[in-house]
Amino acid sequence: IMAVKILKVYNTDEDIYEEIIGEVQEEVPEAWPENKELKIIGKRIPRINAPEIVTGEAKYAYDIIIPGMLVGKILRSPYPHANIKNIDTSKAEKLKGVKAVITYKNTSNVRIGRDPIFNTTVKYEGEEIAAVAAVDENTALDALDLIKVEYEELPFVVDPEEAMKPNAPKIHPQGNIVRGRPSVYSRGNIEKGFNEADIVIEETFRTPVVHHSQAEVHISVAKWEEDYLTVWDTTQGVFRIQSSLANIFHLPVNKVRVICHYMGGAFGCKLSIRRHTVYAVLLAKITGRPVKIALSRKDDYLAGGNRPSSIQQIKAGIKKDGTLTALYQKTVGAVGAYPGSAGVTTPLRTLYKCPNVKTEEYSVYVNAGQSCAHRAPGHVQGTFALDQMIDILAEKTGIDPLELRKKNYIDRDQQSNLPYTSKYLLEAYDAGAKEIGWERRNKIPGSGQGRYKRGIGMATQIWWGGGRPPAFVNVKINSDGTVNVLSGAQDIGTGTTTIVAQCVAEELGIKLKDVKVTIGDSEVCPYGPTSGGSVTAPSMCPAARAAARDAKNKLLEVASVILKSNGKPLDIKDGRIFLKNNPEKSITIKDVIGRSRVGMILGSGAREDNPEGYAVNTFGAHFAEVEVDTWTGKIKIVKYVAAHDIGRVINMLTAVNQIQGGIIQGLGFTLSEERIINKNVGRMENPDMCNYLLPLAGDTPEIVSIIVSKPDNLLSHTGNKGLGEPPMIPVLATIANAFYNATGVRIKVLPMTPEKVLMALKKI
Ligand code: MOS
Repeated sequence: IMAVKILKVYNTDEDIYEEIIGEVQEEVPEAWPENKELKIIGKRIPRINAPEIVTGEAKYAYDIIIPGMLVGKILRSPYPHANIKNIDTSKAEKLKGVKAVITYKNTSNVRIGRDPIFNTTVKYEGEEIAAVAAVDENTALDALDLIKVEYEELPFVVDPEEAMKPNAPKIHPQGNIVRGRPSVYSRGNIEKGFNEADIVIEETFRTPVVHHSQAEVHISVAKWEEDYLTVWDTTQGVFRIQSSLANIFHLPVNKVRVICHYMGGAFGCKLSIRRHTVYAVLLAKITGRPVKIALSRKDDYLAGGNRPSSIQQIKAGIKKDGTLTALYQKTVGAVGAYPGSAGVTTPLRTLYKCPNVKTEEYSVYVNAGQSCAHRAPGHVQGTFALDQMIDILAEKTGIDPLELRKKNYIDRDQQSNLPYTSKYLLEAYDAGAKEIGWERRNKIPGSGQGRYKRGIGMATQIWWGGGRPPAFVNVKINSDGTVNVLSGAQDIGTGTTTIVAQCVAEELGIKLKDVKVTIGDSEVCPYGPTSGGSVTAPSMCPAARAAARDAKNKLLEVASVILKSNGKPLDIKDGRIFLKNNPEKSITIKDVIGRSRVGMILGSGAREDNPEGYAVNTFGAHFAEVEVDTWTGKIKIVKYVAAHDIGRVINMLTAVNQIQGGIIQGLGFTLSEERIINKNVGRMENPDMCNYLLPLAGDTPEIVSIIVSKPDNLLSHTGNKGLGEPPMIPVLATIANAFYNATGVRIKVLPMTPEKVLMALKKI
């Protein structure tokens, strides 16, 4: 049976992007067997580019140095809200070594979409006011000091609940609620659901604004050669930046090249074009010289993006037997001074079986830096509230929290009513509970004695992460049998480069060391998706394998002529092509290409569409044992267990990396991280890594990572789902629930600092 790849053709006239008007069918490879029958897939494979990274050979955007290159610096507002009455740049322009100064006055013709690149009313501390290009960094900084700005300070608001009040300072003319209304979801009838309940509970949970704190700040280097633009950028998607720059500067796409070979972390803050990139390009155009702009760490905290805060009211109805009858969630979140989404309700709408659900999400403007996507946007905050609520309901009904979750398990997506392609959540529950020793938890929360109190808690995770087209990979088999792979998606620190190489090597039957992968170059690589949403691996692996299969088919055709196989089947193993029924008759890949003088074999592959009639999601269950020092308020994580459903594992080492990284980032969110804004002056108090408290190596607990899933062959022929975001999602609730089990006290406001712990324990 020939498997088919279906490329859907959409009608994009008149903005109709939904209607499918046709299909193109191509052959796709059959599903791989289980990992134990494969040579390279599923093993613990170190990153193929690890030597470059650890020796400093790898070139990140900041490492780009071009003769004649200028340094760009950005002047930012010291006020949270102000009109700019005038800007005088004359002194800065006269400073020796300054090559260009841009402000709202000389850039009104440049727009990002409909927005100007400088505003005459600035709406947050850190908003851009001017940019300069100079021969070196100190000259550029001196030039910023010489720019005279006349501000008219305006009333401001930094608290979302304050911002919703009728008399609050207006940040946008139409008011402080994004789009002027909440986004609302509803199914069933919650009034009926609450009437059917034996117990109804209401609780409120709060999470602060937190920051990405990625190792590499935002950086862009721009160079013009006539009307040809090259930009080295810290980005999750070179193709998205390429098309944005083509639009902004009215260039054909083939005259814009965007390069990002290495990425020092992003977590969602590098998904789309930002103003500093446009400034670098514009300053380079004005001066005729390359320009580099790197944000300072402080600028990155003020203006580089953040995760919106949340205030979440949940009302839940449950029967005595543990059946959920109604869930209602109303949320408010601060998105900063420009549009963003503070939506957090998807987990409540999808994770546990419940027929009557209503959610209302308010995204609110405040005078602070604009929010953006941050590792599992919304789900992390939403799960903090939802999964504590589940534990509260468990206690009220007298049901074990794990049993209550199993009782409300559902095998289909409740919003679309479609079944999942695969779901191994029950397996994750069982594996995690066994590993942590779930039966050891306190039967009576807080019943432990003495200074140190221990407890065990858990939480559940749902996310998307199925991947999708379009995603393309090209494979070149060279005359010596080595292989070059070209892949458009970014490696944002997750190991994309390595797993793409694995898929190609596995399919071609060659060694991993003979595969070189080039990523992150919009001119050289075929199109790949922006690396976000945990879609990269599940989009790229099928494309990579399909490209290798295409190359392999062509290679075997050439080999069959040389071997005079007369249509008998051939196969490849360890770089050698042989007749299946007569393995003695063989030839190396190198000799096939060398003797046939085809020059090289070129294969291309694309990600096929997802199956119709299914929902694709990832699942997981986390368990933790914590120890609370009731004298100091410090929470120590004794052991952490993460069990995940991700379909097939492509690389066990990079998979475990993602799990550990997500948990550590989640622990920071739970225990210490928070943007602190002084309400009196509207300025961030902790825009640096000294006062914004990230988790350190010493805070990292023992982490046990368990993959419970089998390949998802309904999803794709490589069967893997995404894992970048899922491991961060359940951490906050897992720790909060374990803390409750240890102390008998619930903390509903993050972060759970020692101070908050002592207050909750009534010690201060
Ligand atoms: Mo992700 S928050 O889509 O990088």
